[in-house]
Amino acid sequence: MEKFRRIGVLTSGGDAPGMNAAVRAVVRTALDKGVEVVGIYGGYKGMIDDDMKVLAPRHVSNIIARGGTFLYSARCDEFRYEEGMQKAIANCKNRGIDGVIAIGGDGTFRGATDLSNRGLPTIGIPGSIDNDVTATDYCIGFDTAMNTVVEMCDRLRDTCDSHDRCSVVEVMGRHAGHIALRTAVACGASAVCINELPFDEEACFARLIEEKNSGKHCFIVIVAEGNGDYAERLTERIEAATGIESRFTRLGHVQRGGKPTLEDRLAASRMGQKAVECLLAGQSNVVVCQRGYDIVTYDINYAQNIDRMYKKKLTDEQIAALDPKEREEMEAFCQMRAEQIQDLYDLVYEMAR
Ligand code: F6P
Repeated sequence: MEKFRRIGVLTSGGDAPGMNAAVRAVVRTALDKGVEVVGIYGGYKGMIDDDMKVLAPRHVSNIIARGGTFLYSARCDEFRYEEGMQKAIANCKNRGIDGVIAIGGDGTFRGATDLSNRGLPTIGIPGSIDNDVTATDYCIGFDTAMNTVVEMCDRLRDTCDSHDRCSVVEVMGRHAGHIALRTAVACGASAVCINELPFDEEACFARLIEEKNSGKHCFIVIVAEGNGDYAERLTERIEAATGIESRFTRLGHVQRGGKPTLEDRLAASRMGQKAVECLLAGQSNVVVCQRGYDIVTYDINYAQNIDRMYKKKLTDEQIAALDPKEREEMEAFCQMRAEQIQDLYDLVYEMAR
């Protein structure tokens, strides 16, 4: 295997607290191994526009505590087309970039596969506050976002308590209820509504009335944003059905900002280090994942298939075409994720009794 001259690093898709810490880890690990790192600005768009710069240690000092991404992030349509991809690859070649580390979510990994398939080895690191990459237990940004939600709900609780009100709080998670479920447990919510499981509105009303009758003064209901404008409608319906004055709060993009927590800095540092080690060892088209305590890698196609299977996006023909052993593993994976969701859901309601 030829020695790597330089590697590129980019952040793409929605930003997540801890992305800077991941870039820092990539730069420090690579420099330690005698390999230069080129920062690619604005995700895949920066690759196409040749917006890149060699990163020296000073570029990453003092960024471990900073939210957002100093490399900027963007969603890039041009990169979906062959012409855009070829331009991006040519720019990388001209700059002596022999491999790329791409930090982001699902769309970012599709780009990573496109590069790998065209001869530019690329490794993905999961960064998404939604924690919606099924193959990994953890995505960078998740913990910070949840802590922000908990802090905001604690504030809402103060004002709800003073006014005998219910706060219906919409949290992020375009296709996933992970933020909603965990924060509902941590905020002592009376109910939680996520896409993955059916929501029993009547049971929610009954619970709120029961809580009110037992002397409770404040009520929190958490709804994942994947439910469209349901949270707003639910707020009105709660007030009408229970007589509890209710207010709606959409937390929105505040959840994406802020200083990364220890958990995010740690995950980012470990994943960044692992990604460089794997790239330099000759791996390509893999995504770095956390499984329990371990940081492991999965082939991106495999990881994306698990994701599709979990989200019921694989057709019967696609499932039938899978290698039987691989299919069994994937099904077990999906089953485990579904059980985790169910356990947390049950916990919310058990705690609300
Ligand atoms: O990064 C994930 C996420 O924050 C989702 O929870 C949310 O639906 C989406 O991104 C918002 O995207 P944008 O910043 O493009 O509005």
